[in-house]
Amino acid sequence: MNQETIQTATTRKKRVFSGIQPTGVFTLGNYVGAVRNWPRLQDEYDCIYSVVDQHAITVRQDPAALRRQTRETAALLLASGIDPKKSIVFVQSHVPAHAQLSWVLGCFCPFGDLTRMHQFKEKSAKHPEDINGGLLTYPILMAADILLYQTDLVPIGIDQKQHLELARNIAQRFNGVYSPTFTMPDGYIPQVGAKVMSLQEPEKKMSKSDSNENAVVRMLDTPDAILRKFKRAVTDSEGCVRAAQDKPGITNLMSIYGVMTGKSFADIEHEFDGRGYGEFKQAVAEAVIETLRPIQEEYARLLADKAYLDSVLTEGAVRADALARRTLSKVYKKVGFLQL
Ligand code: TRP
Repeated sequence: MNQETIQTATTRKKRVFSGIQPTGVFTLGNYVGAVRNWPRLQDEYDCIYSVVDQHAITVRQDPAALRRQTRETAALLLASGIDPKKSIVFVQSHVPAHAQLSWVLGCFCPFGDLTRMHQFKEKSAKHPEDINGGLLTYPILMAADILLYQTDLVPIGIDQKQHLELARNIAQRFNGVYSPTFTMPDGYIPQVGAKVMSLQEPEKKMSKSDSNENAVVRMLDTPDAILRKFKRAVTDSEGCVRAAQDKPGITNLMSIYGVMTGKSFADIEHEFDGRGYGEFKQAVAEAVIETLRPIQEEYARLLADKAYLDSVLTEGAVRADALARRTLSKVYKKVGFLQL
């Protein structure tokens, strides 16, 4: 190794890549499990965050709404603390290499690996009228997202683990057929990712697409709405604030309160000893409102400044494009595409 390679090998920070779909407003669950952790990774890693609009069209989207939500999602990432001076933030469709690499990787992915994906099975059951090719090849595009940037770590929820596994299989196959081309990505599942459950059916995960709005707290809900939803949260008849397996409602509220305030279950039980659920719910709601307030304010400010927001996305796309091209060009050479 010459001096320069040694230098880059030791100083290169690990790369983090994650994608988020511009559909629906993030829930408190997305915040706690994902978004909240992203800014913390920025100092330690080279982070790239993409608003994955190409993934979103596997189900029909209203074009104007998709455009609007793409900006909104980017604004929410920035408002949550992602700093465009430290990280790259860009829109997937602005970097053509994603679609280009995706075609090549598709030719290295057995059909059967795609049809056995849980998400494909669930989504095709949910939309039997539109089981399109994109729904099936979705994880190939996701593999392209990850592999284009020689990603080391991919922050994801547990539901995306199978897709990441598929990306690793594709990378391994390609590297085996040719020569090492892609970095093997690992999942990064945050330790303090306390799973947020539905406020109405606390045995179920809080879901973006729940039809019962009372079950879901969204990052952009008004303080009144947040308070109302917590007041209506399903609990139990014991009347004692303590965590237990047979008290999923209260346990969920305790874990939300714990994440917002940094308090342990023991601290919380002590704090609310002898006090009723009404008071506890009020405290949880207030903690959530205060945590979200600065994010909501910054979000409103950013959306009012489209020129700034768009300049961040433009610069993000330029930087991502330069990195992505390097990998794509290696791949094109290896598979034998004629380069003039
Ligand atoms: N499939 C992911 C989800 O629905 C979004 C996504 C697309 C993603 N590309 C990615 C996540 C690359 C991590 C890395 O949540």
